Amino acid sequence: MSTHASKISMEKIVSLAKRRGFIFPGSEIYGGLSGTWDYGPLGVELKNNIKREFWRTLVYQRDDTVGLDAAVLMNPRVWEASGHTEAFADPLIECKVCHERIRADNQEDKESHEKTHRTRKETPAWTEPRQFNLLMAAELGSVEGKKSSVYLRGEITQGVHVNFKNVLDAAWMKIPFGIVQIGKAFRNEITPGNFTFRSREFEQMELQYYVRPHEAESMRWFLYWKEERMAWYKRLGIRGANLRFREHAPDERAHYARAAWDIEYNSPFGGWKECEGIHHRGEWDLSRHKEFSGVDLSYFDEEAKERFIPWVIETSGGVDRALLFFLIDAYREEPDKDGVRTLLKIHPQLAPYKVAVFPLLANKPDLVDRARKIYTILKSSLVAAWDDIGNIGKRYRRQDEIGTPFCITVDFETLEDGTVTVRDRDTMRQERVNEKELIEHLSDKIKTGS
Ligand code: GAP
Repeated sequence: MSTHASKISMEKIVSLAKRRGFIFPGSEIYGGLSGTWDYGPLGVELKNNIKREFWRTLVYQRDDTVGLDAAVLMNPRVWEASGHTEAFADPLIECKVCHERIRADNQEDKESHEKTHRTRKETPAWTEPRQFNLLMAAELGSVEGKKSSVYLRGEITQGVHVNFKNVLDAAWMKIPFGIVQIGKAFRNEITPGNFTFRSREFEQMELQYYVRPHEAESMRWFLYWKEERMAWYKRLGIRGANLRFREHAPDERAHYARAAWDIEYNSPFGGWKECEGIHHRGEWDLSRHKEFSGVDLSYFDEEAKERFIPWVIETSGGVDRALLFFLIDAYREEPDKDGVRTLLKIHPQLAPYKVAVFPLLANKPDLVDRARKIYTILKSSLVAAWDDIGNIGKRYRRQDEIGTPFCITVDFETLEDGTVTVRDRDTMRQERVNEKELIEHLSDKIKTGS
C-alpha cells in the first residue's frame, strides 16, 4: 500500500477523465444510469489502442491463435451448459434498516454501510446471505406475447467455446491453439462502483487456449500464459511494484478450475484489485457444450491417433479495468518552474494522440501555413493534434495532461532550414529534427516507448 498508485486520489483521476474527455457518466443529462460509462473523444482512442495492442500481441504476433467476434445474444441453453443460470449468482445480504443489498463477501462495503447507520444512531442488522443471478435478461422478438427471454452475455467466453468446431474446421488449427475475442459483457452487478472498475456493461479481452488433456503439459501452458499476460501489462508501462499475482483461495475457485490466479493492481480504492484472471478450466467448457448440444466437440490428433476433449487455459481481462489502471498508473504531478505540471506518462502506443503540432505564433501566416503542411503530412501516418491557442508553455501543459508523447513547434528557423523542435513529454528535452525525417523519427520512439 506504500506505492505511488495507492496515494493518488481517485477524485483527480475522475475529474481529469471528465474534463479532458476520457470518460463520462452514462446518460448523464438524464441523471445517469448506475454502472454505465461513456468513453469520450480521448477515451475511445485509449480504449481502441489497448484493444489493438491486445490483438497485436495475441493474434498477429503468433501462429497458434486466431480471432473471433461472436454475438452478444446466444441461445439460452448456452448459459445452462456453462453453469451460469445456476451458479452465476452472488450470495447477498440485505440491510434490515434500509434494505440495501451488498455482496456477503464484501467486508469493506459491509463495514462502511454499518458505519453510516451508526453515525445516524441506528443499529445495523443483516439478513442471511441469499443468491442473486447476475445474468441480465432481455426480450427477443417484437410481437407482444410471442417474445422469448434471452440473456445479454455475462462473459464473452461462451461465444468462443460454441464455435470451437467451426474454427477448427475453417482455420485448420492444430492443438495447442487459441481463440482470441474482445467484446462487451453485461452483469447485474449488485454494487457497481469505484468509477469504471465494477460496471454493469463492460468489455472483456480473452484468450481461450485449447491444449491436450495432459496434466503436466497443460500446467506448462497455464504457467506460460500467466507470465505472458503479466509481461504485457509491464511492457505497456504499468510499474511492476503496482502489479502482483494472487492465487484464488480454494473456496473462490470454480469447482472445475484446476488452477486460478489473478493479476492484481494496487489501486487507490482499497489496494489490490483484480485486473485479469488466468484459469485452467480443464475439460469443463467443451464437455458441457458437447453434453448440452449433442454435438461432438472432441478433437482427433492425427499424429498420435488419439481422440480427446481438449482442456482450456483461459486468460480473461477487462478492457475498462485495464484502461482505468493504465490511467491511474500514468498519472503524475511533478514540480516545475510554474508550480506543478500534471502529466499522463502513458506508453506512446497507448497515448490517444502520438504528436501535437504548434505554430510558434498563431498570427504569422507563414508559420501557420508551414505548420499546417507538416500537420497534414503527419496525420496520414500518426494520430496528431493541432493547437495554436495561448503560449507554447500552456500548449505543452495541455498535451502533457492527456499523455501526448511528442510536441512539435514550427518556428522561424523552420522557414529557413526545414527543422522543427521536437519536445519530449517525459524528459521535457527538446531537439531539432528535419521535417522530412519526422515520421521515421517519431515512429521509432513510439514503437520502443522511449
Ligand atoms: N471468462 C471468465 C470471466 O469472465 P471474470 O473474472 O468474471 O472471468 C474477467 O471476468 C475479467 O473481466 C475480470 O478480471 C475483470 O477485469 C473484468 N470484469 C469482470 N466483471 C467486471 C465488471 N463488473 N466491470 C468491469 N470489468 C469486469
